[in-house]
Amino acid sequence: MILIELSLFFVLYTNISNHQINEVLDGLLARGSGHRDVLEKKFDQTTMEHVALMETEAITDVVITDERGEILASSSGLDNYQEKLIQSYGQTEKEEDSIIEREWKTAPYVATLSPIEIEGERKGYVYMFSPSTVIRNLTSYLSNQFIFVMALTLIITLIVVFTLSKLITKPLIRMKEETEKLSRGETTVELNDHYNDELGVLARSINKLSEDLERMKQERNDFLSSISHELRTPLTYLKGYADIASREHTDEANKRKYLDIIKEESEKLASMVQELFQLAKMDENTFTIQPEICEIKPLLIQAEESMYPIFSKNKIAVTNTCPSGLCFYADPVRFKQVIVNILENVIQYSGPDSNVHIAVINQTAEVEIKIKDDGPGVPEDSLPHLFDRLYRVEKSRSRELGGSGLGLAIVKEIVKMHGGSVKAKNEKGLAIIMKWPKEGDL
Ligand SMILES: Nc1ncnc2c1ncn2[C@@H]1O[C@H](COP(=O)(O)OP(=O)(O)OP(=O)(O)O)[C@@H](O)[C@H]1O
Ligand SMILES: [Mg+2]
Repeated sequence: MILIELSLFFVLYTNISNHQINEVLDGLLARGSGHRDVLEKKFDQTTMEHVALMETEAITDVVITDERGEILASSSGLDNYQEKLIQSYGQTEKEEDSIIEREWKTAPYVATLSPIEIEGERKGYVYMFSPSTVIRNLTSYLSNQFIFVMALTLIITLIVVFTLSKLITKPLIRMKEETEKLSRGETTVELNDHYNDELGVLARSINKLSEDLERMKQERNDFLSSISHELRTPLTYLKGYADIASREHTDEANKRKYLDIIKEESEKLASMVQELFQLAKMDENTFTIQPEICEIKPLLIQAEESMYPIFSKNKIAVTNTCPSGLCFYADPVRFKQVIVNILENVIQYSGPDSNVHIAVINQTAEVEIKIKDDGPGVPEDSLPHLFDRLYRVEKSRSRELGGSGLGLAIVKEIVKMHGGSVKAKNEKGLAIIMKWPKEGDL
């Protein structure tokens, strides 16, 4: 800004001072030609003296010479410089009025020359002199004024720039401090977000970031404590049954039974760890799906068939009304995992002799897949939490009903990754309703 101001001032100063200097020189030239015009009308001694007399009171001097440079009249006594100048222009061929000295910085006078011509014959010259001090005073006055204004402008600029930058940097420094606090693990950040500009947007983002961090910290703590709870139960079983099985007086049949339980529990643990691992990968976005356009019905049938032995053991009847040829956009392997997770729940929670109905409805951009059983369903207030991690309606970690509460959380993540949605509803039993996109660009 200061550079721009300085260069503008420089241009302005040069223009104004040049203009003023030209004005002085032009004025001198005009005066000289005025005298010349008078003399061309009447070129005699009286007129010459008259002209000289007119200049005696002015700061300028006039000198009238004949055509050879002999001085005929002058308004004041001439000094060396003036005489030399007149001598050097004594017999000039100059036809027109001209400025013969314009070096006001070095010469004591600026001077003009106007030739007198009567009926085409050169009769003499009118010299006009103006002391250079006039111009010097003018320019020094001008430069003083400029220096004063320039200094004032610079001071104002500096004050404005400093206050503005303070105003801008102050909130930025606050933000820097607050984000440093965030990185140290403190999450109580409160920035003033009333600014109606980019700073406000930034402050709001930082506030939101701190809230998110706080929430994630809370979630992580909750999750870790639930996990340790969840792991403790099967581990207690394992330890308990291993203790009993290793006692000497336990008979063979019981030992076998306990070992079976130990095997079952460790399998459960392994699958829980596997599921947790999958969810962690989903959170990190390293869990990949390979969706493609595929037909739904065969996939549903494959999933059902894989569970057929357990269905028949529990006398659960499955009906499927999926239309043939209906396609959607999904990763077949993950889709089957979703269906198996839901069907496993039916086996686990709706009891033997129940019925499951799978209905697929073709909608404009999606397909709706509804899997409904006729079991007891879940209490209404549990519905919104079914898809939360580690959430179970039956809180007691009994061995029969003890799932880990991760199956539906995985279902939700997979459906979400495909761009679909899932919800649960009580309809004389539990109904899981999913929407899958028919086309996609994942
Ligand atoms: N068909 C159903 N009928 C009644 N309750 C259900 C049904 N499906 C799920 N639930 C309830 O929802 C809870 C969460 O189910 P989810 O599948 O997420 O976990 P889980 O079955 O307990 O464990 P996991 O599937 O990881 O082995 C279950 O604990 C159960 O209480
Ligand atoms: Mg389950």
